[in-house]
Amino acid sequence: MIEVGKIKPFIKWAGGKTELLPVLEQQLPKEIRKNKEIDTYIEPFVGAGAVFIYLSSNYKFNRIIINDINYKLINVYKSIKNNCNELIYDLEQLKKEYLSYEEDEDKKEMYLRIRDEFNNWKSVNKIKQAANFIFINKTCFNGLYRENSKGGYNVPWGQHKSPSMYDEIQIRNMSKILNTKDNEGNEKVIICCGEYKDLEKYVDENTLVYMDPPYRPITKSGFTSYNKSGFNDDAQIELAKFYEKLSYKGAKVMLSNSDPKNYQEDDEFFDDLYGKFNIQRVSVSRMINSKGTGRGKVKEILVTNYK
Ligand SMILES: C[S@@+](CC[C@H](N)C(=O)[O-])C[C@H]1O[C@@H](n2cnc3c(N)ncnc32)[C@H](O)[C@@H]1O
Repeated sequence: MIEVGKIKPFIKWAGGKTELLPVLEQQLPKEIRKNKEIDTYIEPFVGAGAVFIYLSSNYKFNRIIINDINYKLINVYKSIKNNCNELIYDLEQLKKEYLSYEEDEDKKEMYLRIRDEFNNWKSVNKIKQAANFIFINKTCFNGLYRENSKGGYNVPWGQHKSPSMYDEIQIRNMSKILNTKDNEGNEKVIICCGEYKDLEKYVDENTLVYMDPPYRPITKSGFTSYNKSGFNDDAQIELAKFYEKLSYKGAKVMLSNSDPKNYQEDDEFFDDLYGKFNIQRVSVSRMINSKGTGRGKVKEILVTNYK
């Protein structure tokens, strides 16, 4: 039995939405909130999936489609779905080894060894790589995901003595959700890996789409870069066209992004892009620089195409 509302993301992820969940829930279409029921839910930039996990464990649904361009991340979802026992076994081995080291030097050496293995993607099977992903996320500096120009993950060791590596119950509950079937035995949750635009074919007037794209950079260091492809202003403009297309199809669409007005009062970028829709600004506490030392309240924008 899944403990409703208790499932949390299995990794830390830049832009994670756990803190914003109550606000986001308030902004869902009224019918959905009232009936606690969603026909089709689509999340094209799923990341660690805070919103997906919350909705799928608290709302009835017919179909959910999640997607991310990061294939190493999507491999974790697929392993949780298809190979839960093996994944937990591999995670336990990693945890035991890490905690068996008393010296920082040994812990760091292990981190770097697993990071090398992770970057040498085909050197071990995909389940082990999913375990490596979670291990690295819990032991790296600040849960960051950053790749160099060749796509190699390059975040340094986080100096954690005894991090909470993984929660077996959470992973098993997640696996149950990912394996939910309808009365005819069809899978209710579809996991995709690719460009957000590829999801258009699934969208109709009974669909709720939540989009949480990479943030428009809020520091000059471009701290929003998740992978080597980047997501610049042109990409945000393309996304706004996609938003409009989905609206035209009759879907209910909610989008979040960082508010550029946090740093420049007269920056109207999103106000111009989404001028036709409803824009709200909400407060959220965020890490505001890449050194991880600065947390503070900043505004985030929420765009909906419904009231
Ligand atoms: C802000 S994060 C999402 C955070 C998520 N809401 C959470 O709670 O963890 C943005 C995600 O978009 C993904 N992404 C970047 N470009 C993409 C694209 N063109 N299509 C699909 N996903 C993309 C990144 O890999 C990243 O996981």
